[in-house]
Amino acid sequence: MNLATKTLTAALFVVAGAAFAETEATDPIVIGHQDLMKSIAGASKVLGGMASGSTAYDAAAAEAAKALLIKDAADIAVKFKEPGSDPASGAKPEIWTNWEDFVVKANALGTAATALDVASADSIKAGMGAVGGACKDCHTTYRLSTN
Ligand code: HEC
Repeated sequence: MNLATKTLTAALFVVAGAAFAETEATDPIVIGHQDLMKSIAGASKVLGGMASGSTAYDAAAAEAAKALLIKDAADIAVKFKEPGSDPASGAKPEIWTNWEDFVVKANALGTAATALDVASADSIKAGMGAVGGACKDCHTTYRLSTN
């Protein structure tokens, strides 16, 4: 590939990625999956912000985010029970053929969230690796990489 082709390929890739990301799910079941993940991401962001020092430590907000993360992790096995059908879904069909393993990975997030000590920014920082690891472990296996 010459440089011009490479540049064009990269540009098309970016455009295709943007178009894909703009596709909104319409199946309520899939919207339910994605809304739960957005809530999980929101709670992680609050905790991650305090861990990195980009936001000030706030004990009440940290407790609330931890509680939400635990609740949402338990909700994964409930909300994902039905596959739904939507081209905008980033869920791999293997979730429903390996359901027990998927639930093990959901529970691992619950365990990491429960173990999180939110007494200080430093203690949150110490526990966030395990939380992020649980996200990554499930996404690697059960989330489409294009999503
Ligand atoms: C047990 C599996 C599992 C765990 C654990 C998990 N996820 Fe997900 N996540 C998924 C799947 C499957 C999707 C794709 C859902 C879809 O697009 O229908 C997803 C999608 C997402 C999305 C995109 C949602 C959207 O609007 O399309 C975000 C953001 C996300 N996850 C964040 C996280 C974060 C942050 C964590 C950890 C704190 C986490 N997830 C833990 C399985 C998991």
